[in-house]
Amino acid sequence: MEKRSRRFALLADREVNRDSFIEEWADAGLTIMDSPNDPKPGICVRDGRIVEMDGRTEDRFDMIDRFIADHAIDPVIAEASMAVDSLEYARMLVDIHVPRHKIVRMLEGVTPAKLVDIVRHLNVVEMMMALQKLRVRRTTANQAHVTNRKEHPALLAADAAEAAWRGFAEEETTVAVSRSAPFNALSILVGSQAGRGGVLTQCAVEEAMSLKLAMKGFTSYAETLSVYGTEATFTDGDDTPWSKAFLASAYAGRGVKIRFTSGTGSEALMGHAEGKSMLYLEARCLMLVKGSGSQGVQNGSISCIALPESLPGGVRGVLAENLIATMLGLEVASGNDAMASHSDIRKTAKLMLQLLPGTDFITSGYSSMPRKDNLFGGGDFDAEDFDDWTVVQRDMQVDGGIAPATEEEVVAARMRGARAIQTVYAELGFPSITDEEVNAAVYGHASEDMPDRDRVADLAAAEAFLNGPQTIVNVIAALARGGCPDVAERLLEMQKQRLSGDYLQPAAIITERFEPLSGVNDPNDYVGPGSGYRVDGERWERLKRIPQARKPDEVIRSTTSGQPLKGLKSKGPAQPGPTPGEVVVALGPAFGTAITETLSGIPHETILQALVEGIETEGLVARIVKVFQTSDCGFIGWHGAQLSGSGIAIGMQSKGTILITKKGLNPLNNLELFGMSPNLTVESYRTIGRNAARYAKGLPVSPVPSMIDNMARLRYIVKTTLMHRRETECVRADAPIREMEFVPRA
Ligand code: 5AD
Ligand code: CA
Repeated sequence: MEKRSRRFALLADREVNRDSFIEEWADAGLTIMDSPNDPKPGICVRDGRIVEMDGRTEDRFDMIDRFIADHAIDPVIAEASMAVDSLEYARMLVDIHVPRHKIVRMLEGVTPAKLVDIVRHLNVVEMMMALQKLRVRRTTANQAHVTNRKEHPALLAADAAEAAWRGFAEEETTVAVSRSAPFNALSILVGSQAGRGGVLTQCAVEEAMSLKLAMKGFTSYAETLSVYGTEATFTDGDDTPWSKAFLASAYAGRGVKIRFTSGTGSEALMGHAEGKSMLYLEARCLMLVKGSGSQGVQNGSISCIALPESLPGGVRGVLAENLIATMLGLEVASGNDAMASHSDIRKTAKLMLQLLPGTDFITSGYSSMPRKDNLFGGGDFDAEDFDDWTVVQRDMQVDGGIAPATEEEVVAARMRGARAIQTVYAELGFPSITDEEVNAAVYGHASEDMPDRDRVADLAAAEAFLNGPQTIVNVIAALARGGCPDVAERLLEMQKQRLSGDYLQPAAIITERFEPLSGVNDPNDYVGPGSGYRVDGERWERLKRIPQARKPDEVIRSTTSGQPLKGLKSKGPAQPGPTPGEVVVALGPAFGTAITETLSGIPHETILQALVEGIETEGLVARIVKVFQTSDCGFIGWHGAQLSGSGIAIGMQSKGTILITKKGLNPLNNLELFGMSPNLTVESYRTIGRNAARYAKGLPVSPVPSMIDNMARLRYIVKTTLMHRRETECVRADAPIREMEFVPRA
């Protein structure tokens, strides 16, 4: 192009345009839900055995087909389930008269292609309606990431404690160096329980290590058992559906909560999409997850999110995969963990699809520390977004699983967490954590605020600990010995939960009173308005109470608490002025008494002085009156004009809103109006006085220049409302207008 549009140049610089966008390419698997290569749904059952599925006969099954046919579809109902029209299913999903359990049962007999065929009929709002009904647990929750670049135990524990206090039901850490795993797992375990009891924790590392940590009692769940929708992707990862199912059983058999990971885009990313759509492959993954006996899944593209987001309908597709998981009865930790966009608008828009309907875990990892310390590669939302998150929850009365917290509460929780891990290190003879480190962890921002530790010594101790005989029991004893009996008690309680198997229930989380909440004792019972999870009662009171919310009277305290203006006194009822050489300044009923400064904090005395001086520079006299019948600026000015010898009056409310008017104009008309007093300086008021005098003299007047601040209304609207209410309280319908004497300060 020869000449560029400046508007386009600016658009090109917008955050959203740093994201990648491509056109669809089905043969590379770069399409969301309708590749021409996707099979048509179908099933054939013979003698209780699935012999054909989605257009493929048994002899042509790959290992994924085989596993799904053998473990994920109920052959007894399969033909009946498949016979129901996909559109009919889609309608049942959004129909409040069809309860969750009925749909989930019918869908135990469908194939992957059928699942895709069903959700294809839904737009995002319908998918959200369906998700609201189908998620497993009634009460929503959230999961936090807790990591830091230095792998500092005190900072991990402090962050874990804060995340627990803020209400995360699960916390996940990982490693920079794999040998750190036992200490990282221990730090968030101890830290989280010091924050509040009941949090489930995990450490995402290589599976053998992960299992070992779990068996020693250092973690209570695992969720990174990845599955993929094509055979080749599995083979590349040295896995099969059977090996994954076996591993899942190894965890669950030892009382560890298990959740798989899958998500659109992984197969295309790894070059083995077989030309199939992302959602079709994901439907296969989800059936593998179900067939493996896992109670749930972390899905919604997860680490691959930017890939579906590069395509048309990508975010809808990600919502569709969350929904399919719930259709299969799986607990869902719904993505929103990895960086999805450069644009805050785009990130938030996507989040709404899971936040509003609610999922079992709104994010499968909210970066509870600053993003730069997130070893999972960012975190779509991080510690700096806490207030945005809690405000959005308050705006919409929805529960995204993060409660507002005060600085005092958070500092106290962080201190408990850091002290507890310090105690464990001291008692078990690990390289000691100093008080200086504890303080840095409690009050600092991120790992660069932490003193460096001797990494070699830490890693050696971690390795010895992992390979030695010690388990969680020794940690509990250390806490009890070292002066943290309450934290010891909570860790012990978590072990009891493990023995009772309570957190193996579907979608289980543990409350701070150590009661499990799961699909068994807290099943999602949504059947339309008046049912399901509602944010009310105690929880709503907690979510409402953001520390930023002030008491209304505090907002206007500075404007109402001053001394009444000494130099402004009543001289009796005001009369019409005979002299054309005057400008009347009519004040609102609270001026200088109940209210003593303007909205933006300019003292009334200063304003009045500026107006009078302005009028006097033109050689005219300012006559001040106070109106009691009204608090409306137009009427205040109108009353002034009726009394003015020149016919010109200035009307001013106590909050500083001001106008110039003249006799003969109706109350809603005027010569100049300044509706946004925060945009006015003392100098502006002086000019307003001067202009009014020039109108009185019949001279040409150029309007008062004022700055424009688009945010003024936003910043001041609450204060405006409250000040206006105060002024209106001072209205006396039958009180006459008073003539005032104003003696400015020397
Ligand atoms: N499909 C399968 N596994 C995934 N993971 C991340 N995204 C996906 C996906 N789309 C896995 C990673 C890692 C953990 C974060 O989850 O391989 O184990
Ligand atoms: Ca996670």
